[in-house]
Amino acid sequence: MSLTRVHNLSISLDGFATGEPQSAEAPFGHAGERLHEWMFATRFWDADGGTAGIDDAFAERHSIGIGAEIMGANKFGPPGWHDDPDWKGWWGPNPPFHTPTFVLTHHTRPPMEMEGGTTFSFLDATPAEALETAKEAASGQDVRLGGGATVVRDFVAAGLVDHMHLVQVPVLLGRGVRVWDGLEALEDTYAIEAVSSPSGVTHLTFTRKP
Ligand SMILES: NC(=O)c1ccc[n+]([C@@H]2O[C@H](COP(=O)([O-])OP(=O)(O)OC[C@H]3O[C@@H](n4cnc5c(N)ncnc54)[C@H](OP(=O)(O)O)[C@@H]3O)[C@@H](O)[C@H]2O)c1
Repeated sequence: MSLTRVHNLSISLDGFATGEPQSAEAPFGHAGERLHEWMFATRFWDADGGTAGIDDAFAERHSIGIGAEIMGANKFGPPGWHDDPDWKGWWGPNPPFHTPTFVLTHHTRPPMEMEGGTTFSFLDATPAEALETAKEAASGQDVRLGGGATVVRDFVAAGLVDHMHLVQVPVLLGRGVRVWDGLEALEDTYAIEAVSSPSGVTHLTFTRKP
């Protein structure tokens, strides 16, 4: 069965997955790179110099068995990208997705075929409709929900997420976009585990109960 998975979604102690304001110069706002320093230190990110411990073991699951990605408009670009017909995402000509990638947005445009197997398609659809489209494109493999916080929250609220890996980073952001707002009692529907890493982050996994 094809699963819907979240991986490496990094949040502050107070639950923010990004700071503010988001801009072309500061994609994570005042959070800067603090939410992802744990990942930059792994072999998953830095094949030559990275570590191969707990953080790497979690991080590399991001890429295994994935046939399509869904992301939100604010992950795809900074505020105003809709008005730039040449905007093709942050990631250059060969984005790191290598699968059909669906951008949820109210400002749709024709699909963009990139190098390396990534095709960006733009969907104005409910979470359930978007997931159905992504599952078809994934040819039996799993669908990764790539974030940001708003899209992950909406899919969890709609009961569409099977597995979530979040990384709680020991920083307090105080403001930004929170994952948890409006959600409650996820422990009723998910088995939740926490693993502390020597790097200082805590890996949280949410696995949907049968
Ligand atoms: N911490 C992490 O690990 C992590 C991971 C990924 C991303 N991020 C960061 O998170 C931030 C983005 O998160 P976010 O919560 O601001 O936004 P987001 O979840 O990326 O996108 C939300 C936007 O997507 C569009 N959208 C969402 N659902 C839709 C639907 N059903 N139909 C049509 N359009 C829909 C809407 O934009 P429009 O109405 O404008 O089209 C909405 O405002 C960025 O800073 C990104 O860098 C962090």
